[in-house]
Amino acid sequence: MEFQFSRTKQAKYDFISGLMEYNSTGIGPGMVSFYEDNKKKLGSDPSLSDTKALMEKSTAYRFGAFFEYNNHAMMFQTVLDMLENQKDEVIEWLDTFNEPGALGSLTLNPEIQPPRYYKNVEIHTQPGCYHGSAFAGIMYHWMIGPFLCHRDDKDEMGWALANGIPKGDYKTIVDLGCAIGKSTLPYCDLYPDAKVYGVDYAAPQLKYGHKLAEQRGKEVHFVQAHAEDMPFEDNSVDLVTAIWLYHEVNRKAMDDIAREALRILKPGGRFAIMESPPFKVLTEDYHPLSEFLLDSTGRRMEDPFIPLFFSLDRKDILNGVGYADVREEQLPNHLTGWSTDVNYFFGAYPWWMTIGEKA
Ligand SMILES: C[S@@+](CC[C@H](N)C(=O)[O-])C[C@H]1O[C@@H](n2cnc3c(N)ncnc32)[C@H](O)[C@@H]1O
Repeated sequence: MEFQFSRTKQAKYDFISGLMEYNSTGIGPGMVSFYEDNKKKLGSDPSLSDTKALMEKSTAYRFGAFFEYNNHAMMFQTVLDMLENQKDEVIEWLDTFNEPGALGSLTLNPEIQPPRYYKNVEIHTQPGCYHGSAFAGIMYHWMIGPFLCHRDDKDEMGWALANGIPKGDYKTIVDLGCAIGKSTLPYCDLYPDAKVYGVDYAAPQLKYGHKLAEQRGKEVHFVQAHAEDMPFEDNSVDLVTAIWLYHEVNRKAMDDIAREALRILKPGGRFAIMESPPFKVLTEDYHPLSEFLLDSTGRRMEDPFIPLFFSLDRKDILNGVGYADVREEQLPNHLTGWSTDVNYFFGAYPWWMTIGEKA
């Protein structure tokens, strides 16, 4: 599929992308300097709501909050405008899969409904959430590049987890909440003999992910399913992974997904998730504004489970459903620069892996 855009549409996308990168790194320094100038007003052990009350007086924060919201809306609308002229062609392209000789596969299940906890939720304010538009996968992809300041263009987050998990003789690997497969692809390179699956409930993500994997010459088997209820046999999988899934599901699903991963894992198999560190770690070991920003972004940008998930001890979730040897580890973070040479204004915090084994 060759996407063709007028110069005007391309220029608009480039402009909105630039704003998005500015949203991610340009507005923060103003917030940090306001915080540094005013933090003595907070006392020695401020709560999150104390920090919120202080930061809401900051012009940089008030501007940034509106900026982020409107910038995302402009981005999604711009992507839809860009696709408008080729709409039918793009849909036909996405709907053509499992052709003879194709690498990998795509297994859709038209019975799958969006999770109940996404009723009336458009995560990240994406119109139609992950599933409601045929172009949802493309919207997600073209937004996430500039949002992450292109520091994940080579799937650095996926590689961080793939490299952080202890090496093993993994023959079957399942990546949960894979979306367009960015977190899935590294396993094709790291374990070339393994059968690699990507699971997501949202068909538009998987259709586009399937195309991206083919384009990059990677054999991924995409499966439409809820991570809480997957079409894999008991004791059949060596490794189950999930990046950025857990902060987007409700409390019950956190347990249900961990339990379902345990069911499909072989004895000795591993379940590993990766997210930003919990609030407690961010506050105590990194910059307090990292906690504030994650919490407020979650509330403003329709990521409603962020405040809950980042308040939990993730080991309790895995221990609670029966994993053994549950532990956490810090992994290199190319976005914030932890163990790399990138500067980041909220403190260079690591990615946070939580991992357990099936006894
Ligand atoms: C933030 S995206 C993460 C994408 C991917 N792991 C990555 O790192 O690029 C979260 C994904 O989880 C999916 N998701 C959310 N709840 C799910 C569920 N219960 N079962 C399967 N997928 C789910 C969404 O559709 C979305 O594609």
